[in-house]
Amino acid sequence: MLLENKVALITGGGNGIGRATALRFAQEGAVVLISDLDEEGLDTTSQEIKAAQGQVETVVCNVAERADVQRMIDTTLSKFGRLDILINNAGVNRDALTARIKDGEPRFMSNEQWDLVIDVNLKGTWLCSQLAAIPMMTQKYGRIVNTSSIGALGNIGQSNYSASKAGVIGLTKTLALEWARYNIAVNCVAPGATKTRMTAGIPEKLMEGLIGKIPFQRLGEPEEIAAAHAFLASDQASYITGQVLFVDGGISVGA
Ligand SMILES: NC(=O)c1ccc[n+]([C@@H]2O[C@H](COP(=O)([O-])OP(=O)(O)OC[C@H]3O[C@@H](n4cnc5c(N)ncnc54)[C@H](O)[C@@H]3O)[C@@H](O)[C@H]2O)c1
Repeated sequence: MLLENKVALITGGGNGIGRATALRFAQEGAVVLISDLDEEGLDTTSQEIKAAQGQVETVVCNVAERADVQRMIDTTLSKFGRLDILINNAGVNRDALTARIKDGEPRFMSNEQWDLVIDVNLKGTWLCSQLAAIPMMTQKYGRIVNTSSIGALGNIGQSNYSASKAGVIGLTKTLALEWARYNIAVNCVAPGATKTRMTAGIPEKLMEGLIGKIPFQRLGEPEEIAAAHAFLASDQASYITGQVLFVDGGISVGA
């Protein structure tokens, strides 16, 4: 097993990629703490892990709120005594064109759309990493995996999301440099379009066009992102830090 007896904290564990990652980590022998804003989603993930004989705890937490994040880290330490792995997976999108003219009137992406996406995706990753790093520094061991996106390379209607996910790449590289001396590796997975509720609302025609551009001609499965998380969080990746692994069916090749 890749993650035997490791203590792993997974944000956004109530749905999609976070749920698949939590299940995979439990199968790989990790004890898992999942956090999310979505309590029902947390319950479902937790039940699935327990049904598979895994060990799991849940915490409701908004990753963009420092006090919530501190409580999440404290809970991990009080329940499990250490923190080996942090998967910064929680994320949101609020798509809109940055500026356009409709019926002669200007229309904009709102401050709220910008702020929410930057707060959750970028500030949330920064906060969770910052507060998780303290126990990891004391242990002289830590593995952090952040979540960027193919969207970091640019996507119409996603200036907020793209900026947040490109920011996550810069953050990953900087934290890798700052924390290597503590034996903390910081890497990043950049998924392409993956079958979760985040892509469920894409209209059929757009989806056909999108799939047509993916070399593998299909969306990714959450389990395929979870596999990359498991590798980067494991000691198989012991000499890898500051890297971005695109898991995207090849769409970023040549981009
Ligand atoms: N699905 C894709 O195509 C795709 C592609 C690239 C990157 N990603 C990224 O993968 C990650 C997981 O996305 P997903 O596709 O599984 O989507 P999802 O919506 O199924 O899961 C995201 C989870 O994050 C939680 N969350 C949202 N805001 C939060 C907050 N403030 N605090 C704590 N939890 C919060 C949600 O409740 C949800 O459970 C995200 O970072 C997303 O940006 C997804």
